[in-house]
Amino acid sequence: MTILVTGGLGFIGSHTVVELIEQGEDCLIIDNLSKSTINVLDRIETIVQKKVPFIKLDLLDLGKLRMVFKENEITAVIHFAGFKAVGESVSNPLMYYQNNLISTLNLLDVMKEFDVKKLVFSSSATVYGDLHTPPLKEDLSLHAPNPYGRTKLMLEEILQDIVAAQTGWSIALMRYFNPIGAHKSGLLGEMPFGVPNNLMPHILKAASGETSSLQVFGGDYETKDGSCIRDFIHVMDLALGHVSALNYLEIYEGCEAFNLGTGIGYSVFDLIRTFEDVNNVKVPHNIVARREGDIVASIADASKARMLLGWDAQYDLQDMCYDSWKWYKNVLHHITKDS
Ligand code: WQD
Repeated sequence: MTILVTGGLGFIGSHTVVELIEQGEDCLIIDNLSKSTINVLDRIETIVQKKVPFIKLDLLDLGKLRMVFKENEITAVIHFAGFKAVGESVSNPLMYYQNNLISTLNLLDVMKEFDVKKLVFSSSATVYGDLHTPPLKEDLSLHAPNPYGRTKLMLEEILQDIVAAQTGWSIALMRYFNPIGAHKSGLLGEMPFGVPNNLMPHILKAASGETSSLQVFGGDYETKDGSCIRDFIHVMDLALGHVSALNYLEIYEGCEAFNLGTGIGYSVFDLIRTFEDVNNVKVPHNIVARREGDIVASIADASKARMLLGWDAQYDLQDMCYDSWKWYKNVLHHITKDS
C-alpha cells in the first residue's frame, strides 16, 4: 500500500516523506523538479537509510499521471506540488492558475478513476486574508489577497464541492502558518530558487554575509516593536501534522480544514534576536518601507488539530533558528542556485 507524495522533493514534502517512512509507510514521490533538485532525494535516502521510489513527473501530464496510478497500489495522496511565491503570483497570475489549479484537477480526476479517495492537501493560512483578528480559527470566513492565495482558496472550495457531491472522500486541508527550520540532521531544509520571498532565507543570507543587510519591511506597525507578528512553525512539526492527518483520514469521511501553527506569535525582530542569540551570529538589518500586501499579525488557533489529530507543535523558536542555521552551514551555503 503506497502513499503518493506530489512535490515530495520540496521543502515541506521532503520532510513529510522522511516522517512517513520512519513511521513505516511506503512512499512514492512524484516531482517535476521545477522548484527542487534530485539531490534532495539522495539526502532523504541518507536519512531513512533506504531507497525511496521517485518519478520525475509534471501533474499537467495527465497520461503519465494515469500510468503512475495504474502501475502502483496507491491508497492515499499527500499533495504538495504547486507554486507558492506570493510576489511571483501577482506578476504572473495565469502561470499560477494554470499550474496550481489544472495540476490538482488532473490529480483529482485520476484519483477518482482509480478510486483513491484519501487526500491531504497543502493549503495555507493565506486563505484567512486580512479580515480577522488573531488567533485564527478554521471556521472563519475566507478571503485570499493574492493570486497564490486564491488558488489555495479555490482548491479548498473545489474539494468541499467534491465531498458534497460524492461519498467516500476523506480530505484534510492543511493551513500552514509560517514554516521555517530544517531537518535535525542538517540534510534537508528550505531551498529557495532565485530571490527568496520568505523571511528566514533572507536572515540566513544576512547572517552569512551573502547579503550586507536584511531588509525589515516596515517598523511602524501597531505591534509591540513595530514589526509584523507571525506564527512561525518548525517544518518538522508541519511534517508530523501531515502524518497525523493521514492517520485521521483512516477513520474520517468528509472534508476538514486544520491550522498548523504553534498558536504563539513572534515579531520579525523577535525572530532576528532569537536567531542571533541561539547561533551567536549577528544579523545586520535595516528598516525599509512596508511590503505591499503584508498583514500586521497572523497567529493560529491550533486547538482543532490538537483535539482531532492529536497533534501539537513540539519545537520552539530556538529550535527553528538553530536548525535553519545548521542547514545553511551544512548544505545551502555550498549550493549556488540559478536565479
Ligand atoms: C514574514 C514577515 C514580512 C522578508 C508567506 C505566504 C504564505 C506562506 C508563508 C506559502 C512579514 C517580513 C519578509 C524580508 C521582512 N507561503 N519580511 N523582510 O508573507 O507571512 O507568508 O510565506 O504557503 O502563504 O503569504 O511570510 O516570510 O514572506 O514574511 O521583513 O526580506 O517577514 O514583511 O512581516 P508571509 P514572509
